[in-house]
Amino acid sequence: MEEVLERYRGLSRQSEALFKRAEKVMPGGISHSYRYYWPYPVYSVRAKGSKFWDLDGNEYVDLWMAHYARITGHAPDFIIDGLAQKLSEGLHVGMVNQYEVEFAEMLCDIIPCAKKVRFCCTGTEATMYAIRLARGYTERKVILKIEGGWHGPNSNLIYKINTPLEHGESLGLLPEMSKYTKTIPFNDIKGAIEAIKEDAGDLAGVIIEPVPGTGFIPADVHYLEALREETLRVGALLIFDEIITGFRVSLGGAQEEFGIEPDLCTLGKVAGGGMPMGIVVGRGDIMDMCNHMKRPNKWERVNIGGGTFSGTPIAMTAGLLQLRYLKENANWIYSKLKEMGERVRRGVEEAFRQNGIDAQCNGYGSLYQVTFPLQKDAEIRSPRDILERTDSRKRDVEYKLGMMNEGIFVVKGGGALSTEHSEEDIEKIIRATQKVAKEMGS
Ligand SMILES: Cc1ncc(COP(=O)(O)O)c(C=O)c1O
Repeated sequence: MEEVLERYRGLSRQSEALFKRAEKVMPGGISHSYRYYWPYPVYSVRAKGSKFWDLDGNEYVDLWMAHYARITGHAPDFIIDGLAQKLSEGLHVGMVNQYEVEFAEMLCDIIPCAKKVRFCCTGTEATMYAIRLARGYTERKVILKIEGGWHGPNSNLIYKINTPLEHGESLGLLPEMSKYTKTIPFNDIKGAIEAIKEDAGDLAGVIIEPVPGTGFIPADVHYLEALREETLRVGALLIFDEIITGFRVSLGGAQEEFGIEPDLCTLGKVAGGGMPMGIVVGRGDIMDMCNHMKRPNKWERVNIGGGTFSGTPIAMTAGLLQLRYLKENANWIYSKLKEMGERVRRGVEEAFRQNGIDAQCNGYGSLYQVTFPLQKDAEIRSPRDILERTDSRKRDVEYKLGMMNEGIFVVKGGGALSTEHSEEDIEKIIRATQKVAKEMGS
């Protein structure tokens, strides 16, 4: 490990110096907790296609892809050129604009459950509003989520995310609120039904990522079906958080891929085309809870009203260009991403197996993460297992820095492929893993 660290430092002296400056003026030196990793992060200066370049001039095959947002690679010409033209017309005016209408129409066309759309600026806001809609619509309080489920740091949902799960996720949260955000076990139909039954009378909704970002172990279709049936039975809403899976696992997201329609869905990341984005979509009657024309009295309405930069023409244009491209090319994009994802998962797992390291590579479509079970052959089946039964140091330090030294940028042991990842990139990822696995095994 000493050698790996020394090499990392040797390759990133300018980043190290800049991070020291950052620490003096920014708490922890960062703007997003996932962007820090030990001993310090490298600073990206340019990105194109499947790659980015850092301050010291190193080139990386990127698997983080802007928090999984860049499904068509970094800075694609069809977005950059479109935005350049848009920029010549000005920036945000703070008025309604034609692009938000076109974008909303496009979303209603693509996403199965989308009958109406509200734009905001981040996924964190989108999930906050979805919860508020569920509580407002049902006039109930309890929300169920899975352990390890990340829906952004909004105060309603920042519960049971990191280990130890018994501890709160942050200071500054009201302990009373945790009474109303509870958990269901992942991929456990019986346990989930029991949890739903327990709060049936006061259950506003269940929110879940169909492929949770903690581990990328996909939800079983039967499990999602059971959630659909049970929420309907008790009069609660089913909310899919498709901020990662939307437009990524298929054009219509996981709900199209798995054939299950939620009542509400949150979107962001890919839909932003590289710009900040949060979207709530869903059933018309639920979405209309925030319609000031149908519900003029504030006490009869769900307030989704703010966001200076919500629906900004630049973000709407980028999103529109992104979705238009995906729609026009869906016939090859999703099959190609699935095939590449499958190859990487198999190659990475095999590389560790050959070097006598117990590793499990999970994922779906273009998404994957490798984990290292703490006990030999332990079954890792849920985000909770990932948190409690796998070696995060091995993944986030040994494997990560080893891969960076080979010119591959992984986060949480993997990431997201894009249409711009080439055959050569795939081979490079597998070859680098073979080399790093050998070092880790010796
Ligand atoms: C599933 C999921 N929901 C919500 C969020 C929050 O979105 P944002 O970071 O845009 O606020 C994220 C971000 O990582 C996410 O992965």
